[in-house]
Amino acid sequence: MNLDILLGLQWGDEGKGKVVDLITPSYDVVARFQGGANAGHSLEFNGIKHVLHLIPSGIFHPDKINIIGNGVVLDPVIFKEEIENLRKMGVEPTRNLSIASKAHLILPTHRLLDAVLESAKGNAKIGSTLKGIGPAYTDKTGRNGLRVGDLLSPDFEERLAGVVALHKEMIAFYQPDYVEKSDEMMMSWKDSLSILKEFPIIACEYEIDRYLKEGKRVLAEGAQGTLLDLDFGSYPFVTSSNTIAAGAFTGLGVAPARTGRVFGIAKAYCTRVGSGPFPTELFDETGELLRRKGAEFGATTGRPRRCGWLDLVALKYAVMLNGVTDIVLTKADVLSGFDTIKVCTGYRIAGEITDKMPFYDRKEIEPVYQDFEGWKEEISLLKNYDELPASFKEYIHFIEKETGVTISIVSVGPDRTASIYR
Ligand code: GDP
Ligand code: IMO
Ligand code: MG
Repeated sequence: MNLDILLGLQWGDEGKGKVVDLITPSYDVVARFQGGANAGHSLEFNGIKHVLHLIPSGIFHPDKINIIGNGVVLDPVIFKEEIENLRKMGVEPTRNLSIASKAHLILPTHRLLDAVLESAKGNAKIGSTLKGIGPAYTDKTGRNGLRVGDLLSPDFEERLAGVVALHKEMIAFYQPDYVEKSDEMMMSWKDSLSILKEFPIIACEYEIDRYLKEGKRVLAEGAQGTLLDLDFGSYPFVTSSNTIAAGAFTGLGVAPARTGRVFGIAKAYCTRVGSGPFPTELFDETGELLRRKGAEFGATTGRPRRCGWLDLVALKYAVMLNGVTDIVLTKADVLSGFDTIKVCTGYRIAGEITDKMPFYDRKEIEPVYQDFEGWKEEISLLKNYDELPASFKEYIHFIEKETGVTISIVSVGPDRTASIYR
């Protein structure tokens, strides 16, 4: 089984980018399977921080193949910016990056539709990143989308004009002055296509099948997190793709039976950006401290992330949905210095305690907490599991006991080297 999957177990921003970069040396291929430039995956080495949105986090390893899979929605403007940034750093991605022909394109009108539909929601807004994700996936399922492979088709311009005309009608209904804006945006969108065409456009399902048959190891990189999954997340406050392990199979065209390990990335506490339920959210100075110590500001939008204690009800749900074989616990260093660390072990809903996710999780949920003794030691420079403070190890063991999964890597800082293997 040579396909491993790595994904987020919370509401995104768990540190997926860092961990993908860290474990890429054990793989031959890294492939993004869903989402788009709503993602911001940070990784750090040699004192430099990089943030990737569409490009897989294996790109800094020149001998590894990187694939943008068919499940991704790709905005050529953002793609071009990312390629130009990489080239400035001396990385030449045409050597090791290819794009699935069946990946859908995000058009400028998708971004404008995202903006008008969000503002039409008023107080019920999702808190979308406004990258056009929802409208692009809506066109995909509505069978109106344009795909990367269509760029090579002689009738592309005609089909594009048809889709854009439809979008403009909708935009005009909400915000007539955006129609003109879409024409301006379309010019830079069309400009960006030439960079896109420098890359191999592939049938990723056949390509990955070939790699697997050759015995190569493939890592599927997820974006967002389990609780933002379209089906199982806190609907409607979710993204528009399947962020769970099942999304890797449709998002790359690989059969489930070929899966080996599933790495679930979880922060040692919780964060969320955008709207929606977050039972363990802290509105006090402890929440503020987590935000400050953890530098919890969005890698894509710069928005402050909402912060709270670890939620085991949510984590156990995520472990179940994804068949997680290994947990990677990140940002443990941020918890150093707290006297007490709380973990949510159940939800009290209308007087009853449950450890299951409710259907409608906007119900009044009161988290039930178990307290753990904190630790004072800074752990960000530690290299061995044995050196970790005893009370942190107790915290780790409790999470393992509750989830039934081993924490095989503990991340204690943003840099590649700040990682402790068990
Ligand atoms: P992703 O979307 O899951 O890839 O996560 P993001 O990159 O959006 O957010 C994670 C943030 O935490 C980034 O700024 C990382 O550099 C940083 N980070 C990752 N792991 C650690 C860690 O173990 N400790 C600390 N302090 N920061 C980390
Ligand atoms: P990474 O891959 C955190 C959130 C948005 C919003 C909701 C819907 O970096 O972990 P969308 O733009 O998808 O329509 O927004 O999902 N969201 C993320 N939150 N990390 C992400 O990606 C996210 N991508 C989307 O804030 O609440
Ligand atoms: Mg992120």
